[in-house]
Amino acid sequence: MSVRIHKPALLDRLPAGHQVIEASAGTGKTYTLQRLVADQVLAGIPLERILVVTFTDKATQELLTRIREYLQKLLDQRESDIETPFWEVDDLGRERLAKALRGFDRATISTIHGFCRQVLQEAALEGKTLFDRELVDARSLFERAFRHALAHTFSQVPDHRLILEASLAQGGRVEAIEEELWSVHNDGGVLLPTFATWETWIGALDLDWFRDPTALLATWKAAGVNANTLRAASEGLACLGAG
Ligand SMILES: Nc1ncnc2c1ncn2[C@@H]1O[C@H](COP(=O)(O)OP(=O)(O)O)[C@@H](O)[C@H]1O
Ligand SMILES: [Mg+2]
Repeated sequence: MSVRIHKPALLDRLPAGHQVIEASAGTGKTYTLQRLVADQVLAGIPLERILVVTFTDKATQELLTRIREYLQKLLDQRESDIETPFWEVDDLGRERLAKALRGFDRATISTIHGFCRQVLQEAALEGKTLFDRELVDARSLFERAFRHALAHTFSQVPDHRLILEASLAQGGRVEAIEEELWSVHNDGGVLLPTFATWETWIGALDLDWFRDPTALLATWKAAGVNANTLRAASEGLACLGAG
């Protein structure tokens, strides 16, 4: 017995081969993926040879549920649809659907990182890497690295220790420092001054106007900088130049 089941016209308009479906929420990505997978299964591609990946755990769970439900729906349908185009589902098609459902646990429908992890694990021998890998998020790794640096560097290396102590003495908290460093790390920024004492930092700049700020002050004056500000800047620069 063969049943005609409506197949979205979109499927025939998609180019053959690997597909990326990218669209806003609620626009029908999962809907399309359910039908793409069914289309391949009906064409005789075993489900375990199809790779379906998405970004989040939540989207993965939804994909799993909805793909399974959709395959089951096609398998159970007994009445022909009248809309075209359609899949002609016969005994062979139903056998393919049933087989996909029986082996559904072997389907690779996962997050992108979950899939990468699976590949690394399966290729552990070729890649000479560990069999047992743990999937951790970057933030908790950063916390571990920070705690390590705190114990072995920030509190031990004299220059670092000076800055750490100064920060704590001013009411800084270790958690806040960690949070600050994490945001710098994430934004790809650079923390200035680098962990060195001010003296070495300023020495490294080697700017002549610390020693003779006349030209710099003249530029500021020409730019209309307030006289009091100029005087304060002049004194400040003189101190740094002498240091
Ligand atoms: N072409 C379509 N025809 C009918 N219903 C659709 C179509 N595309 C999406 N839907 C419905 O719209 C809703 C959102 O689609 P969904 O695939 O979950 O979106 P996305 O995965 O992009 O967030 C679902 O209820 C889905 O069944
Ligand atoms: Mg979705």
